Formats: sequence, C-alpha cells, structure tokens
Amino acid sequence: MSDNNRILSGMRPTGPLHLGHYFGVIANWLKLQEEYNCFFFVADWHALTSEYADPTKIKGFVPGLVKDWVASGLDPEKCTIFQQSMVKEHAELHLLFSMTTPLGWLERCPTYKEQKTQLAEKKLNTYGFLGYPVLQAADILLYKPCAVPVGKDQLPHLELTREIGRRFNHLNKTELFPEPADMLTEECKLPGLDGRKMSKSYGNSIQLSEPIEEIMPKLRSMKTDESRLRKSDPGDPAVCNLYPYHKLMTDPAKLPEIQEGCKNATWGCVDCKKVLMESMEAFLTPFHERRNACTDERVAEILDAGNKKAREFAIKTMDEVRGVLNFDF
Ligand code: TRP
Repeated sequence: MSDNNRILSGMRPTGPLHLGHYFGVIANWLKLQEEYNCFFFVADWHALTSEYADPTKIKGFVPGLVKDWVASGLDPEKCTIFQQSMVKEHAELHLLFSMTTPLGWLERCPTYKEQKTQLAEKKLNTYGFLGYPVLQAADILLYKPCAVPVGKDQLPHLELTREIGRRFNHLNKTELFPEPADMLTEECKLPGLDGRKMSKSYGNSIQLSEPIEEIMPKLRSMKTDESRLRKSDPGDPAVCNLYPYHKLMTDPAKLPEIQEGCKNATWGCVDCKKVLMESMEAFLTPFHERRNACTDERVAEILDAGNKKAREFAIKTMDEVRGVLNFDF
C-alpha cells in the first residue's frame, strides 16, 4: 500500500517524562509528525499491567503525559493524540487475537522471560502481563500502520505483532492486516546524572517539568570526568558525563571553546556546569511556558478530538475483522 504513510506509537503513562525520554523518543516523534500521518497514544491499559494494585495514579499521569508531549512540541493539528482505553476496539481485537496466539510465543518473548525472574517481587505473574504483547499487537494492527517507531527493547513485541497478524490472515484466508515495519529509534545519547542510563528508578533523571531551581543543585553535584581530580588536570570531553548534555543543549558554536577549555585545563568543571545551567534554562523555559499554557481543559479537547479520529479508524477495521470471522451479527 504505497499511499499508507501512517505510523503509530504509544507510551505508558507511568510518570512525568525526563530529558532521556525527550532526546530518546520525543525528539524523533517531532520529526515524524512533519512527514507521516502519525497516531500517538497514551497506553493506559498497558500501564495497568504493573500498576493494577494502585490504578488511581494512572488517572493523573494520563493528562500529565499529554501535557509533556504538547509542551515538547507535538502538535495536535499535525498528529492524532489519543488514549487507548477510550477506544474500546483495542480490547475487542485483543480478545480475538488472544484466541489464536499460542502460549509458547508469549512465554518465549524476551521481555517476559526477563521479567519472569522478578515476577514474585513485581507481582507480574498475571494473565495480563503474559498477554501484554497481544494487546500491543491489537493497538498496532487496528490502525494498519506502515511502520512503528520504537526503541530496541520493543522489537520482539513488533515481531510478535507481525506473527499475530500473519496468523490471523492465514487462518482466515485474508490479507486484512499488512505487516508494519520496524522503525528503530536511535538510542538516547544522554546519560543520567550519575553516568548510568537516565531512568526514574535510578533517581538520576531530570524531569522536563521540574522547576529550574530544583535542577541547578542536581547539576552542581553531577559527575564529570572522574580522572580529573584538580582543576589543573586536563579533562577529556569524550569520557565526561557532562559533555553529552552540551552536545544536545548548548549552542554548537560554543562547543569548540568548551572542548579546548576542558582539554587544556583553562576551564574547570564548575565553569562548564555554569554554561550548561544556562543552556538547560534556555531549553526548558519554553517547555515550561507551553506546559503551563496547556490546561486540563485543553488536554480534554485534544484527547476528545484524537479519540474520535482514532475510533473512526478502529471501527472500520473491526467491521472488517468481524466480517472475515463471520462475527458480523
Ligand atoms: N510497550 C510499549 C512500551 O512499553 C508501549 C506500547 C503499547 C506501544 N502499545 C504500543 C508502543 C504500540 C508502540 C506501539 O514502551
């Protein structure tokens, strides 16, 4: 289908987004919304797989996620922003796919096997968690996208999605579901404050919505090139934890000076951090302004419009699915 330039991706609403999400996922979505017919959705049912014991949190995280997206520059005029649980067709297709998906496919899924060792502690020994990729396959195939932009960790789920679609097509002698391609998102080049991957659970992240005053002390205590003990020691931006931040947030024209200053020890880490603080403020201030302007009412408007568009598409696909299955009563 050459006229198909639809892509779809989703995020679970599990808390405020941080800089790692921005540079790892959202920056890519911003480019895609200019070129593709994009559907981006809040995977709130998926969040229940881990948060089922305390679902009240999800209710606040859903509008929070939409605000983070809009403040980052996702434009509801250019892409369709919607909420999974408001399009019930996801649940119906999930149920139908669950009938045809062999257990072995799910038990062999790397994300399931990995988590299985932590099952007891995380209480993920549920039917819903095992079936997570089946729900994801329904999310995706409902919209028959040409591709799904995701990180490396999600590739097994996409492979399963294609297998589930292929099996449906084969069993029902149809070509209803096209095979969506992988569209691999480059890995985030931004480490956390301690040099490990930026992650909420490591406590080494900077949230996009965090007040500037709270970020500054974090930057001050941030790790730099560890072999540089005194200011007079030359440093190496290539191994410094701070330099990747400059590369992403500081005016490129200033980078040579920063590099030189570090390498010949005319700049100390404190000087370098001062410049980063300015860059960070310049980067986050417009985000904060847009986020404050995005009221709960605006979020409701965006989701109402997006849910309606998504639903129209999903209803059409489900009519076709029911027809193929002889369930068009
Ligand atoms: N599993 C994805 C994640 O944890 C979220 C997700 C759910 C998703 N359904 C999707 C992503 C469909 C892409 C397409 O990040």
